[in-house]
Amino acid sequence: MEQNKIYKRYTITSALPYANGPIHIGHLAGVYIPADIYARYLRSKNEDVLFIGGSDEHGVPITIKAKQEGIVPQKIVDKYHNIIKKSFEEFGISFDIYSRTSNKIHHETASEFFTTLYNKGEFIIKTSEQLYDKENNQFLADRYVTGTCPHCNNERAYGDQCEKCGTSLNATDLINPKSVLSGNTPVMKETKHWYLPLDKYEPWLRKWILEDHKEWKPNVYGQCKSWLDQGLQPRAVTRDLDWGVKVPLEEAAGKVLYVWFDAPIGYISATKEWAEEKNKQSAVGSSSPTTNNQQQTTCLTGRQANNFIDWQTYWKDPETKLVHFIGKDNIVFHCIVFPAMLHAEGTYILPDNVPANEFLNLEGDKISTSRNWAVWLHEYLQEFPGKQDALRYSLCSNAPETKDNDFTWKDFQLKNNSELVAILGNFVNRTLILTKKYFDGYVPEIPALTERDKETLHAIAGFPIKISNCIELYKFREALSEMMNLARLGNKYLADSEPWKIFNTNPEQVKTILNISLQICANLTIVMEPFLPFSAKKLLQMLNIGKLKWEFAGKTDILKPNHQLGKAELLFEKIEDDAIIAQIEKLHKTKEQNNMNETVVTPAKPDISYEDFAKMDIRTGTILAAEKVAKTQKLLKLSIDTGIDKRIVVSGIAEFYDPEKIIGQKVVILINLQPKTIKGITSQGMILMAENEKGELCFAAPTKEFNNGSTVK
Ligand code: MF3
Ligand code: ZN
Repeated sequence: MEQNKIYKRYTITSALPYANGPIHIGHLAGVYIPADIYARYLRSKNEDVLFIGGSDEHGVPITIKAKQEGIVPQKIVDKYHNIIKKSFEEFGISFDIYSRTSNKIHHETASEFFTTLYNKGEFIIKTSEQLYDKENNQFLADRYVTGTCPHCNNERAYGDQCEKCGTSLNATDLINPKSVLSGNTPVMKETKHWYLPLDKYEPWLRKWILEDHKEWKPNVYGQCKSWLDQGLQPRAVTRDLDWGVKVPLEEAAGKVLYVWFDAPIGYISATKEWAEEKNKQSAVGSSSPTTNNQQQTTCLTGRQANNFIDWQTYWKDPETKLVHFIGKDNIVFHCIVFPAMLHAEGTYILPDNVPANEFLNLEGDKISTSRNWAVWLHEYLQEFPGKQDALRYSLCSNAPETKDNDFTWKDFQLKNNSELVAILGNFVNRTLILTKKYFDGYVPEIPALTERDKETLHAIAGFPIKISNCIELYKFREALSEMMNLARLGNKYLADSEPWKIFNTNPEQVKTILNISLQICANLTIVMEPFLPFSAKKLLQMLNIGKLKWEFAGKTDILKPNHQLGKAELLFEKIEDDAIIAQIEKLHKTKEQNNMNETVVTPAKPDISYEDFAKMDIRTGTILAAEKVAKTQKLLKLSIDTGIDKRIVVSGIAEFYDPEKIIGQKVVILINLQPKTIKGITSQGMILMAENEKGELCFAAPTKEFNNGSTVK
């Protein structure tokens, strides 16, 4: 593969978020901030960039949410599409288009894509038995089935995954499956589906990824290798569902395309929509009114204003660099399945890179929508109005680029107060205030240079290339820290040269110091912009200059002598402890709420008769001896006085009780349970334990001295 290929244009995609909930910091840190930095940087370099976003509006969870709320799925996606779109706008994610997969153009595009593959004979057809709800006359997607996990006995496992032990499941694996729709036990019924034969593309994929893309990030390359080494299987691209893109075949009535088949095609549909829109605007001849996020500076190499845009150049011209920004749970779809689809279709380019990130945790726990363990963007902005860049900074500097990372409010505060405020903000502010004070807000000239000044000028020139290199290698954290290093350099230069002390004795030298400091500020507007677009804009106003392209970065004569500066304002504000404490308390409340919910929702078992209950012979007893069962973590071998006899019981309590400490412990024991051999020991009976929502065990025992062998009823 050509490592240093020169590209003419860039198609940058960011994972289309599901429109069934708002957006949180994990989404922003993992996908949208890196993608936005990349897009902004390339635009600043005058590259031809198309940055695509949109809502993923199909899939089973959306239909379940709609059922729960008693409304049609379209209502759900309309609601969240708008919320999500607004959050992205507010955080300055500079999409050229934010589309959605319920659009007509998307249905047409996805449908055509399927037809092309179908006509080329790429699909294989298979019939299989799937769970079916007779009452509702419909096949049950995995998510529509719950039951007992075969691995950990969690009775509330979903058909696709057990959230307790994390195992991914097929609905047919569940013990005692129940339809979510009717509560009934589903039956097996035959159904026919179209499959993409990933096994057939495997040799091609192996070469394309493992040999030609060794430069991909290790987390991405590693995950791909592991999928490929396990061997690929054909994947069904159709589903029995009534929400999605209809399968364009007569024999497939009632079936839709699998959401992971249609969603990535959404990138292509969005491109078509964007091109149509642009062409319409230029046909009218009016210069397009720029929407919120679009950069006014669209002096682009590949697409001049008023020129017809062919969407296909963004997807089919080998001189276009296609880059997918995603989170790690999307790797297989963007590195294996979608490329296989594009390859099978035959006329498309393939991604040059897929710089997927790992996950961001929140205060030590996995971010979870259902448990409300998240910082929601719309809530953040209510609580920290105007502080988009503070979050962008903290999320980028802590981005989970190589491993999962943790967001904590304390760290957020620290990054804001000791970096944005104390270094960047402080440097800019002092430079502007001093220039105002000594030179009435006009840029002074440089009368002479000391060695220190020369060194500083030289150092400034070195930053843009360092930052460029990092961004082009998708190392955004490092790029950001180099940006901050430029501010640090300025801060130190100013502090060391102490213009406030020498103004009376050496005003000429102060001119030089402030000129150089101001040139650093001008440089900062350029290198800050991809990361901190709101503050970069503010700084431009303070310097009273227009936006500067990347080619100016590194120059030290950007601001000309006698140029009049604008008004100095604070770039960043300190975040006080009470704001942080309030956020931490809010999370504590969520945690308490979740624990309560969990206790409450442990589902009741069906009724039994007294006769059923009376079959159990339960007695009080005492532990006489206890020892760990060799080679196990959880088991203790207990010797019990049951009043009737002395017997051995193997009990899974070793995580909660030390054997030495429970000698003499009163217990309640079921004595007529069939004996069972566990690790070579015959266990006669079962000690009754209480189990809380965290899975902790504690003895259920008589509350006062009571004879062994007393019956429990
Ligand atoms: N909606 C998916 C998710 O949130 C991402 C879809 S990316 C696309 O995990 F390529 F399919 F669009
Ligand atoms: Zn489980």
